[in-house]
Amino acid sequence: MTNNTIALITGANKGIGFETARQLGRQNIHILVGARDTARGEEAVQKLAALNVQATFVELDVTDEKSIAQAAQSLANTFGRIDILINNAGISGGNANKPGDTVLATMRTVYDINVFGVVAVTKAMLPLLRMSQSGRIVNVSSGLGSITQASDKNNEFFQINNLPYQSSKAAVNAITVEFAKELADTSIKVNAADPGFTNTDFNNHRGHRTTEQAARVIVHLATLGEDGPTGSFQDENGNVPW
Ligand SMILES: NC(=O)c1ccc[n+]([C@@H]2O[C@H](COP(=O)([O-])OP(=O)(O)OC[C@H]3O[C@@H](n4cnc5c(N)ncnc54)[C@H](OP(=O)(O)O)[C@@H]3O)[C@@H](O)[C@H]2O)c1
Repeated sequence: MTNNTIALITGANKGIGFETARQLGRQNIHILVGARDTARGEEAVQKLAALNVQATFVELDVTDEKSIAQAAQSLANTFGRIDILINNAGISGGNANKPGDTVLATMRTVYDINVFGVVAVTKAMLPLLRMSQSGRIVNVSSGLGSITQASDKNNEFFQINNLPYQSSKAAVNAITVEFAKELADTSIKVNAADPGFTNTDFNNHRGHRTTEQAARVIVHLATLGEDGPTGSFQDENGNVPW
């Protein structure tokens, strides 16, 4: 048991998820490191401990309902609640740029993690978030999921036309709004974050932003005060068009 704020982050073993864990951990928040691979998850916990972050490994494959149910049960037994859920785990599914050539198997894989994973984990963790005095859910989306930006010839990413990934993140945005509406009468806030084009394994380190920069908006939305928004989509500069 802990009196600290407790945050579960999916895909926290590396990249933006790990850096989010580090930044939240520095605020004395107890980090539950969700990772599908035990060795990678435990290694991340050790790294965080070396940075004085209180962290616990939680085996969690967001595509595996049994794994999700076991994680929820174990967190219920050990902590009885969570205060923050960050749905960060995600894949790009490659560099597809022609919707007409979409490989449906790839699209299903991308949706399993990026879309159904978010819904399944959120559903399973909601009872634990309801036990919090001020639950926060952050769905890690992408500017590439903004239909407004995807249609804007002046946008720097206009030439990117990756149907599986971009439509999956547009779905994440819609999912954010739907859960926010359901939870509007509770103390739980649900928002989507755009971390920006970031230097991680995700894009073979082509991103020009650091993970420190990327994690900031996620941390901001995870630690919103009672007067903060719900059902919003934000980057570090504020609202991103849907
Ligand atoms: N990097 C960017 O430019 C960028 C821009 C906008 C949005 N984003 C979003 O930011 C999030 C994090 O991306 P990143 O750049 O940090 O990527 P990353 O370094 O590749 O990390 C992705 C994380 O997701 C985990 N993961 C993948 N499939 C999983 C599953 N089935 N169950 C549980 N965990 C799973 C990975 O675990 P393993 O180590 O086991 O594979 C890893 O921990 C993603 O949602 C991505 O779409 C990234």
